Amino acid sequence: MTDKTFFIETWGCQMNDLDSQRLSGNLKLRGYRRVEDQAEAGLILLNTCSIREKSEHKVFSRLGELRELKQERHGNLQIGVCGCVAQQEGERIRQRAPWVDFVMGPGNVGYLDEVLSGEKRVAVDFPEDRRYDFLAIDRPSATKAQITIMEGCNKNCTFCIVPTTRGREVSRPFDDVLRETSNAVAGGRVEIELLGQTVNAYRCPTTGRDFGRLLAAVADIPGVARLRFMTSHPAEVNISRYLHLPVQSGSSAVLRRMKRLYTRERYLEIIARLREAIPEIHFSTDFIVGFPGETEEDFQQSLRMIEEVRYGSLFAFKYSPRPGTPALKIGVAVDDEIASERLTRLFELHEQVKRERLESYRGRVVPVLYEGPSRNDPAMLSGRTDDNWVVNFTGDPSLPLGSMLGVRIDQAQHHTLRGEAVA
Ligand code: 5AD
Repeated sequence: MTDKTFFIETWGCQMNDLDSQRLSGNLKLRGYRRVEDQAEAGLILLNTCSIREKSEHKVFSRLGELRELKQERHGNLQIGVCGCVAQQEGERIRQRAPWVDFVMGPGNVGYLDEVLSGEKRVAVDFPEDRRYDFLAIDRPSATKAQITIMEGCNKNCTFCIVPTTRGREVSRPFDDVLRETSNAVAGGRVEIELLGQTVNAYRCPTTGRDFGRLLAAVADIPGVARLRFMTSHPAEVNISRYLHLPVQSGSSAVLRRMKRLYTRERYLEIIARLREAIPEIHFSTDFIVGFPGETEEDFQQSLRMIEEVRYGSLFAFKYSPRPGTPALKIGVAVDDEIASERLTRLFELHEQVKRERLESYRGRVVPVLYEGPSRNDPAMLSGRTDDNWVVNFTGDPSLPLGSMLGVRIDQAQHHTLRGEAVA
């Protein structure tokens, strides 16, 4: 085992994935080698998530395991906690787990040297200069690149920890985003995903150009075959064929207590307008069930929302109280058993909706961006439709990655489609 090896474990959202790609790339630049087995690593990074209590607990139980590993190695192991738990807990992590060498929040990914040298042991500020070096990103996909356009969030949803852990909104300069995109495309990444906590709040800090202008400019870069973005806030909407539009609840009363800044009616109006412009648009969403004070009637409105919007995919979570958030002081907690039961009902309903949506592809020929061999069956090829469904299909494996193919869908599976490439 050499000192210059690292292992990185990533939890949570796309922003965290990308931060790990940045950390990994920067470590490699500094002569480190990435290993997939922690037993071989001289440096272990936990890139953590604190969106719900459960994710936070996982970090401390992992740190317990790492304490033993470090003892076995007579202290010969560096442990760093990164990500949102690092930001939220800061110094407290080293008090609770003194075997941790450093704590580094999401605002400090560009300050790796200072952190590794010990100059910054607890790096949880939000430096004005975030030092975003896109050339050092260790991108895991040969065909897709995620690109940060903004960080942080200025919304104040009462349940949410993100404004604390990722700070206030900071947008990257327009031309930086274009430069990074061109560079990614030159490297074969024909699918571009623009990332930010509320991407549609993007505003160029020097020229004031907004998200619409940025989308248009990125789409104009030669070689960009597909353009996606995550995550949008419903109060500020823009357009693509697949749109993740977290609704959180179908009840206007709950939305008001969450401080989501829209009502059920307003949300449905936005959906209707988007559908009018793009009839085949695929919506995905997030729901929170069991928000304080949520009644059975409120919950039924969430179910009706699923039926009305016919989301292709959704994520749903039981409300989890987060430190320092306003929701702690709102309404009466929903009994945990009731919340669990609601979550189950919500998933059951969505399963039906999803099955019908997937079935509707059968017999059609759809454009698919070829990404490589299928994960479960290497004899099959795999890619995605424009509206983001995974398609496994038979075809010529020697085609260049990133090619756009026509695929005839002959089967809808649980989460994916199956088909055959056609000429
Ligand atoms: N409890 C449960 N779910 C939450 N989310 C955010 N904060 C909480 C919380 N305190 C969910 C929201 C958000 C997704 C990323 O996580 O649905 O859209």
